[in-house]
Amino acid sequence: MSATPPGIEKILFTEEEIDRRIREVGAEITRAYAGRAVKLIGVLKGSVYFLTALTRHIELPVKIDFLAISSFSNKSGAPGLVRIAKDLDDSIEGEDVLLVEDVIDTGFTLRYLLQTLSGRAPNSLAVCTFLDRTSRRIVQAPVDFRCFEIPDRFVVGFGLDYNQLYRNLEYVAVLKPEKAGE
Ligand code: IMP
Ligand code: MG
Repeated sequence: MSATPPGIEKILFTEEEIDRRIREVGAEITRAYAGRAVKLIGVLKGSVYFLTALTRHIELPVKIDFLAISSFSNKSGAPGLVRIAKDLDDSIEGEDVLLVEDVIDTGFTLRYLLQTLSGRAPNSLAVCTFLDRTSRRIVQAPVDFRCFEIPDRFVVGFGLDYNQLYRNLEYVAVLKPEKAGE
């Protein structure tokens, strides 16, 4: 996609900035896991664009697998309920697992995934996120690698969606408030 679609307020990270950061984080991961193989687990669908780009810059044996989750609110509207909608294809027992997220916001999703995956006896379990919005964190969860910290605005692009749209933007952008329902 090249034309800026309606609904976009401003570009936060350009394609070039994203590419540069992913190369740097890929090199960090390569150093951290030197001599080992790493299994990247992507959370569908938002992390797909980031995960595939990242694998191109990890100079180690790499495997990939995916899971999908659905999050919902409880009766009082509080967030934080998460369940697995599509599970991994393969076991992670004994493997060095890197969970790859598009964005960490409240931390509820990440905490749930870490609890679930750590119960499957991986050799190690770490977290890599494309975007991190630490200002909205409610539950603390460890982040080992991240590309960018973001402000408290709804963002789309490079995998992140609004109503399933905008994932294919090559940049990350702030959505206009009237679109994002802020
Ligand atoms: P949390 O950390 O459990 O609050 O949820 C993070 C999830 O909320 C992410 O994996 C996204 O699916 C979604 N999300 C949070 N902020 C944004 C955003 O700015 N744009 C698109 N999706 C978002
Ligand atoms: Mg997500």
